[in-house]
Amino acid sequence: MAADDQDRLISARRREDDADASMRPQALDDFIGQQLLRENLGVYIQAAKARGNALDHVLFHGPPGLGKTTLAQIVAKEMGVGFRATSGPMIARAGDLAAILTNLEAHDVLFIDEIHRLNPAIEEVLYPAMEDFQLDLIIGEGPAARSVRIDLHPFTLVGATTRQGLLTRPLRDRFGIPLQMKFYEPEELEAIVRRGASVMGLEITADGAMEIARRSRGTPRVAGRLLRRVSDFALVAKRSPVDRHIADAALKRLDVDAMGLDAMDRKYLECIAKHYGGGPVGVETLAAALSEERDTLEEVIEPFVIQKGLIQRTPRGRVLSEAGFSHLGLMPPRRDAACGQFDLLNGSEGA
Ligand SMILES: Nc1ncnc2c1ncn2[C@@H]1O[C@H](COP(=O)(O)OP(=O)(O)O)[C@@H](O)[C@H]1O
Ligand SMILES: [Mg+2]
Repeated sequence: MAADDQDRLISARRREDDADASMRPQALDDFIGQQLLRENLGVYIQAAKARGNALDHVLFHGPPGLGKTTLAQIVAKEMGVGFRATSGPMIARAGDLAAILTNLEAHDVLFIDEIHRLNPAIEEVLYPAMEDFQLDLIIGEGPAARSVRIDLHPFTLVGATTRQGLLTRPLRDRFGIPLQMKFYEPEELEAIVRRGASVMGLEITADGAMEIARRSRGTPRVAGRLLRRVSDFALVAKRSPVDRHIADAALKRLDVDAMGLDAMDRKYLECIAKHYGGGPVGVETLAAALSEERDTLEEVIEPFVIQKGLIQRTPRGRVLSEAGFSHLGLMPPRRDAACGQFDLLNGSEGA
């Protein structure tokens, strides 16, 4: 398996060649899917504007590629304020954060991506900034050190994380608006694929768009990427409009299966099936067996295969479900006493 998840065509993580910017919806009304979240966010934005306040701090959490960064930008646009973006690992020292915060104008949006990767010392600086719009800084060292307090303009912190569970409790509690992103329905992805095709000037039939949508792992970023690759195949094969057949042929060659799983997903499932008898197997063991980062398994592969019911996360580890076995074309083994008995009965019946 590729050591790097970024090599996967279907990876939901951002890659350098992603044409994300051109595909990004610019307004809340252009944003497809996440309906409840979008409606609620729209209400909070309207209310904040009506009161003349900065919007309360917002936390988006959910798997990569579902639109967290896009929504953060939309929040700033809808509020009519400035947008400044950084990420947890990029803020190395308290001074870096102080420089960013003191440069914000009133009601601006500060977007911190991968906020679960903020260094704990920096989190401490962030708490009073989020709560009271104040910055407490220690200047100098040793006996000469003194603390200074700086007032900030009210601002909106928009955080994004793929791992809400890794956020510290005090940080999580300071977000007034926590919003969970969900995987998209095929119909929503179909609309996203059609919109993407029209941005690219590509002709696509409804069933062509649906074929790509169904195989996009519930993820707009994947849908956009598959659309671009399918469009390459169609161009070279001189086929227009893109229909279901050309989409299917291209996706097969890209090794994306009917459910949208790619070789890496299947290798993960096969590893549990073949080496661990269907589990339970711990995530660390799996990561080692697959030479993959644990984070990649937990953030990228597992959310989708769990949502599809192919594996279950149990206290003793990952377990492949019957659906998981049958997706691989395998028979589930007998697992527990109940199954054993069932088999016994079947056996005596057959005899
Ligand atoms: N609801 C949506 N409608 C249309 N395109 C979307 C939607 N959500 C995400 N996208 C597209 O998917 C890609 C990834 O979105 P992004 O906001 O970067 O995801 P995240 O920050 O959650 O990883 C972008 O190209 C974006 O334009
Ligand atoms: Mg992002």
